[in-house]
Amino acid sequence: MTEKPLLKALNGQVPDRVPFWFMRQAGRYLPEYRALRSERKGFWDMVYNPEVACEITMQPLRRYGMSGAILFSDILVIPHALGQKVEFVPGTGPVLDPVRDAGALDALDPENIDQTLSPIYGSLKNIVQALKDENFNQTTLIGFAGSPWTVASYMAEGSGSKDFKEAKSLAYRDPGLFEAMIERVTEATIRYLSQQIEAGAEALQLFDSWAAMADAEHVERFIIQPTRTIRRRLKQDYPHIPVIGFPKGAGPHLERYARETEIDGIGLDSHTDLQTAAKLQKICCVQGNLDPFALLAGGEEMTRRADNILHALADGPFIFNLGHGIHKETNPDTVQMLVNLIKDYR
Ligand code: CP3
Repeated sequence: MTEKPLLKALNGQVPDRVPFWFMRQAGRYLPEYRALRSERKGFWDMVYNPEVACEITMQPLRRYGMSGAILFSDILVIPHALGQKVEFVPGTGPVLDPVRDAGALDALDPENIDQTLSPIYGSLKNIVQALKDENFNQTTLIGFAGSPWTVASYMAEGSGSKDFKEAKSLAYRDPGLFEAMIERVTEATIRYLSQQIEAGAEALQLFDSWAAMADAEHVERFIIQPTRTIRRRLKQDYPHIPVIGFPKGAGPHLERYARETEIDGIGLDSHTDLQTAAKLQKICCVQGNLDPFALLAGGEEMTRRADNILHALADGPFIFNLGHGIHKETNPDTVQMLVNLIKDYR
């Protein structure tokens, strides 16, 4: 059996050290990331370059020695690989040619995604080697994808959005079409995550960053069901690879999500109170949930909250993380203070 702390926690055990990683741990708050970024033509030029993506993945580990190394990539590689136009516009974020009718959906081809995605499998292979070379033998390599709901929402909306009005309207106006889109994304995601495992991923996270937008029926049909499909299909071929689900903002549905998707770990956002988190811990491993803005602020409010999280959850199956991605203006020294605090707990 494995001894890596993060895998132990996902396996329902309490490791000797508290495992931790941070969403968006590789990124713009790190000067070494910004330096590399300024040399590249654009975001895709980093994601599809296995040497660069490996280097970016390793950057935060060299500073902080996280228990998890998360592949440097993006959730929008799936629409991109399906044939949708996806661009990252500086200052605006992602921009996609929206998919809102059967014609646009039919143009998307789940059979050929590996052509586009193969450099990402190369990144994973490079990261496996780099972790060995640099003696990170307690670090777990985490692969990831967006959840079908969140990815389909971007595909239909055509961009990020405050309310995803276009995507939500489509889900109500033409649920059959929206479901077909979810199914296509689900198939592509299973294939993509399977290939990530083949390339060396030891655990997986499904980012459902926009779970909060779904009404109760959509939670069941478009979030819980497809997530369970992904979990079951992966389990058939890779029974030992754990999956973390991160249904951000799913509040009242968290318990059902944790039970019914059959995931091994649940990522909690910062809205989740620690009593609820402790209850969920009886169902599966919990991960979270320091507010990234508390980390941005640093100081006593941050340390008090981080301590509370550790005392409430770290004596059960638990992975310390944030409630969402690190804010880009976060001071790397503050991150170091948080890391010291986690490492000192046990
Ligand atoms: O966590 C990590 O360190 C691994 C890499 C990672 C990125 N994106 C790199 C990235 C992961 C896991 C993601 C997931 C992702 N991407 C999500 C889900 C998690 C979340 O934050 O809710 C979402 C919704 C996306 C879509 C996406 N990608 C957006 C909205 C943006 C633009 C946001 C912005 O800050 O401009 C991206 C770009 C992106 N993905 C960056 C990084 C480091 C910034 C790129 C840059 O350097 O300009």
